[in-house]
Amino acid sequence: MIEHSDPIKLHPEGVDLRKEQEATLSRPRMKYTFMARFFFAFMDFVYGKKLTVPKIKLIEILARIPYHAWEIKAYWRLTFGYADEKIRREGQELVKLGRLSQDNEYWHLIIAVEKIKEDDIKQSGFWYTFMPKLFALSYSVFARTLATISLKQSFYFNAMFEDHAEHEYANFVKNHPELDSQPIKSELVKQFGGYDNWGDVFRKIGLDERAHKNNSLRECGRGAEQYTYVSISQEENDRFLHSNVLTRG
Ligand SMILES: [Fe+2]
Ligand SMILES: [Fe+2]
Repeated sequence: MIEHSDPIKLHPEGVDLRKEQEATLSRPRMKYTFMARFFFAFMDFVYGKKLTVPKIKLIEILARIPYHAWEIKAYWRLTFGYADEKIRREGQELVKLGRLSQDNEYWHLIIAVEKIKEDDIKQSGFWYTFMPKLFALSYSVFARTLATISLKQSFYFNAMFEDHAEHEYANFVKNHPELDSQPIKSELVKQFGGYDNWGDVFRKIGLDERAHKNNSLRECGRGAEQYTYVSISQEENDRFLHSNVLTRG
């Protein structure tokens, strides 16, 4: 039986989406490894460098996969390490993180799908239905293998994936100022934070990616490298980022 402690919050209270988007834009990207650069370059080669809503759909299909890989690994450890309290606590926390993050990434995917519907964007069935399945299958094999070999490396790769996504979203909103005056028609998207325009919805998704990045950094022992929120005090940052400890402290 999973012993639930307090639910993990994705963000502290009172963050300002616009200030946080500006902070993302002004901060350099993480230093990506060769593997990560190859991965991003390959996606750009196939789908173009410019972020579009159909490309967002692909990113969000992939984004959930590593969390699922961690959850699977955690359950294997829980299955055989049930007698060890440390393994049990770590495994349960990792399952919790995996579920929270997967739910959030799935929201992002739904939002992309709803935006495609609202804008009546035509997509090629081959490139945006068939190929994402191939990408997801390949990424799933990669994520499962990496998680099996080294959870630490898996967390770090995911931190880079999330950093890339955070910057892509911040630039996407900057490059599409019309989003700020586009009202949301979808009842589903209205449930995502109650925002009244598409600009804020994508700003929030970008900020969610920062939270995912921070969680991954903390999980791979780089908690001190987490990215702070500029719209709240240092004290609140310290309290949130360093007390929201999950698996390995
Ligand atoms: Fe996402
Ligand atoms: Fe993410």
